[in-house]
Amino acid sequence: MKLGTLKLENNFVLAPMQNVTTGPYRRFCRNFYKIGLVCVPMIYTKGIVSSPKSFEHELYKIEKERPISVQLIGSDPEALKKSIEYLESYKFDVLDINAGCPSKRAIRAKQGGYLIDDFKKLKGLLEIAVKFSSRPVSLKTRTGFKKNFDLITFKDIVNDSGIEFLTVHARTVKDRSNISAIDLDFIKILKESISIPLIGNGDIINPKFAKYFMDYTNVDAIMIGRGTLGNPELFYQIYEYFTKGREIPFINNKTLMRERVELYKRVLDDFVDGTKFQFPLEEYKFIELKRNSIWLTKNIKNSTDLRRKLSETRNLRQLKLVLEDIFN
Ligand SMILES: Cc1cc2nc3c(=O)[nH]c(=O)nc-3n(C[C@H](O)[C@H](O)[C@H](O)COP(=O)(O)O)c2cc1C
Repeated sequence: MKLGTLKLENNFVLAPMQNVTTGPYRRFCRNFYKIGLVCVPMIYTKGIVSSPKSFEHELYKIEKERPISVQLIGSDPEALKKSIEYLESYKFDVLDINAGCPSKRAIRAKQGGYLIDDFKKLKGLLEIAVKFSSRPVSLKTRTGFKKNFDLITFKDIVNDSGIEFLTVHARTVKDRSNISAIDLDFIKILKESISIPLIGNGDIINPKFAKYFMDYTNVDAIMIGRGTLGNPELFYQIYEYFTKGREIPFINNKTLMRERVELYKRVLDDFVDGTKFQFPLEEYKFIELKRNSIWLTKNIKNSTDLRRKLSETRNLRQLKLVLEDIFN
């Protein structure tokens, strides 16, 4: 399928999630099924300008993950321009601009979700991104700030900006993630109004809802974030359902968890091989493996106890011992 000039194997996108969809996580998920596009979570333009080296681990070996998108968050046009220059040497496929992050830090700094309440600023930043980026530019946002944005003005900005596609999380910035149901009616109208492809996002946790989301709104692709936590097979399940009507239930037990944890370890080892990260490797591996081992307990009997044991570990050695204990 095509998203603007970008050719993808399918219309599945793994969402950018800070401290979650890291390099190892993206590679791990792609082991279970082809994912059309994966995304590097937001990188602060101000941070790149003041300390470019501190983001090296986010961009490490990304050339091996193509097609891949890199996302920037910021409000200062000059910092955006400099960040684009800095990123130029990395091999990735899409430059994404974040206009949806609801965190207090982002809103205070007039970036992320703030931008959907300030179209003038958003327009200016998109102009810079399109002008200075050698890659296709995309925008990821929400349906509005406190309420849904003015569609007529928004569609003109998007259609005239030169960006190649748009991703929308189907709720407002103020709704954050769980407060309200997602607004598929707005996504449907938005899809009819814009002339570039639209990726729909929000609350997709199973194949049936993925199909409902796509059929109802007619979006070109779907992006999934939290639904993949602990269920890396979700895209495969969706593919089977879309193409064969086959419903593969989500199954988990200690044997499957063990296989997935072992795979995560291998992916992690391969990922860090040859790295010269500034922070301790051991610590990085520990954090990655602990977080994912905890998610991978999903739906296992007595998983509360497993999660508690895993959460209490303080270093890689302890974590490995607890995992051994769980599996034996
Ligand atoms: C822990 C976490 C971190 C996130 N980080 C980012 C980010 O860096 N950039 C971004 O555009 N969205 C970010 N998001 C939002 C997701 O990309 C996605 O829009 C949101 O989770 C809704 O999709 P879902 O219901 O499939 O998870 C994050 C979400 C979570 C839960």
